[in-house]
Amino acid sequence: MEQERPSDLKDLHVYDAPPAGAADDWSVPQGWTEFSDADHARWNDLVARQSQSLIGHACDAFMDGLNALHLGEDGIPEFETFNPRFCAQTGWQAVAVPGVIPNDVFFRHLAERRFPVANFLRRHGSLDYNDEPDMFHDVFGHLPMFMDRTFGDFLAAYGRAGLRAEGLGVSELLGHLYLHTVEFGLIREGPSIRAYGAGLLSSYAETVHARTSPKARRLEFDLARMMRTQYLFDKFQPTYFVIESFAALLEEMETTSLSKVYETLRDQPSLAPGESHSDDRIVPIDDL
Ligand code: CO
Repeated sequence: MEQERPSDLKDLHVYDAPPAGAADDWSVPQGWTEFSDADHARWNDLVARQSQSLIGHACDAFMDGLNALHLGEDGIPEFETFNPRFCAQTGWQAVAVPGVIPNDVFFRHLAERRFPVANFLRRHGSLDYNDEPDMFHDVFGHLPMFMDRTFGDFLAAYGRAGLRAEGLGVSELLGHLYLHTVEFGLIREGPSIRAYGAGLLSSYAETVHARTSPKARRLEFDLARMMRTQYLFDKFQPTYFVIESFAALLEEMETTSLSKVYETLRDQPSLAPGESHSDDRIVPIDDL
């Protein structure tokens, strides 16, 4: 059951330059007081329904983080009061941004342990597809993962690598790594494979697809393969990558010479989202 995003929901919050009211780092006031009672109620409903539906699908780190953050008990979190607690628990802060922000700005926020969060909430109550990443995607999908310190360290290392990649003109390659881990990543947990990517966890339908659909290919983690692999913006991914642990992911990030990987990949064509390669190590579906 693949679903496409309605085209009128694409790219509503994409800017060429920081919009009025944004700082140089594209941060904006969260505008929390502008959310209505109906917004807060919709938020609580989204969090309650998605938390329930992800049981058995989301990785332990995510569920533990979700329980610790109490995201859906009191409406949309107000960052001014949320951040001190969140920072004490994770070392990270949430920072409001107006939508999609430039790569270099995004990388710097991550390197300095600030996670950019869209300051708008989807107007519908659907959990079955992602339109552009909204506050529900960013807060519910991403923030619980930071309760795992190793995952947070990985993302900060990714931000530092991103700043170097900008200088080398290879942000797009590195960006694929983000998509195949932080957004659409799967992790092995005992006999099971569970979701840790926010693009999955904020979409119930894609989480189920990624974990169980015979149409989806699940490949063992391979950093260079991930960087080569394109992804789909508007449909479920046909290929997902499975990591062994966040420690293994962080170690890979810290010990791999990324400049050598970029050098190798410069001479190789990228792979289409569903394309297979002779070196692929497929995770069999009966492992799930
Ligand atoms: Co995201």
